[in-house]
Amino acid sequence: MSTPVNKNTKENEIFDFTLRPKAWQDYIGQEKIKKNIQIIIEAAKKRQDSYFEHLLFYGGPGLGKTTLAYLIAEKMGTNIRTVSSPTIEKAGDLAAILTNLSDGDILFLDECHRLNSVCEEYLYSAMEEFKLNLILGKGPMARTMELDIPRFTLIGATTRLAMLSSPLRSRFGAIFQLGFYENEEIEKIIQRSSKILKIQIEPEAIKIIAKRSRFTPRIANRLLKRVRDFAQVEEKGFITSQIAQKALNFLEIDEVGIDANDRKILETIIKKFNGGPVGLQALAAASSEEENTILDIYEPYLMQLGFIKRTPRGRIAGELAYKHLKIKYKNQNTLI
Ligand code: ADE
Repeated sequence: MSTPVNKNTKENEIFDFTLRPKAWQDYIGQEKIKKNIQIIIEAAKKRQDSYFEHLLFYGGPGLGKTTLAYLIAEKMGTNIRTVSSPTIEKAGDLAAILTNLSDGDILFLDECHRLNSVCEEYLYSAMEEFKLNLILGKGPMARTMELDIPRFTLIGATTRLAMLSSPLRSRFGAIFQLGFYENEEIEKIIQRSSKILKIQIEPEAIKIIAKRSRFTPRIANRLLKRVRDFAQVEEKGFITSQIAQKALNFLEIDEVGIDANDRKILETIIKKFNGGPVGLQALAAASSEEENTILDIYEPYLMQLGFIKRTPRGRIAGELAYKHLKIKYKNQNTLI
């Protein structure tokens, strides 16, 4: 099974860090969100506050949630501490993180739908009153202890808004959804990244990579990097349109960004389930993929292309998917 180009690894984190925008004009797209956040920051600065209301970003992986949080920290001139929610196992872990912050710091809580419910409850008073009400000991000997914590700003990020409890959701001052980017925005991102990484690239090659980037900045940057490696071996590093085409074909990413894993999902629905409807669990089992990977990585883009549709009875393959895979379409309307 090949690794999705959107997966995060240590090497990719360093790569993302190099490309991270430090100014608003370098953060391309998501214009409405940018405008909203600029107002929030400006207002906080006018009030001479070093902290502002807690923010929640939701949207698919690679759409710029972390990038945006780091840009906010840069603009506020504050420290940012990133924590992946599943690593917070006990109240003590949360207490250690919160007490180590300073006034005005940003805590970026990634995958916040995966925070365990005990820690989530402790977080409520931390967010609202900057206090932690810890329970020490068990049974009749249990004691409570109130701990003051620095006035921090929480930036939560999640790919699944629906999995967040409503008490947690309601404690964020503003919630922003990051959607897919326009093709032209992805081209601009590739152009900017090429400049930073000193990659020579033909304008036509930028277009070829952009079209296969699933409207997602992280994927655009990863593909650029892979094509660059290919060009270094074959063409002294210069990315021509031929090299871009050849590299992406070699990576089995087709002209609309569909890779071997997407094809497997589509073919499973069409061939094993007669085009659907098929439930998520059955689809995951039949295609040997994890349900979460299907939900977060494959399905949103396949739906965006109109290749998959969700119905109350499960997923169905759309006519466009049959066309793309060159399989004869059978009208399933009578089945739904
Ligand atoms: N990297 C991730 N998201 C980005 C964006 N919106 N603009 C520029 N670089 C990015």
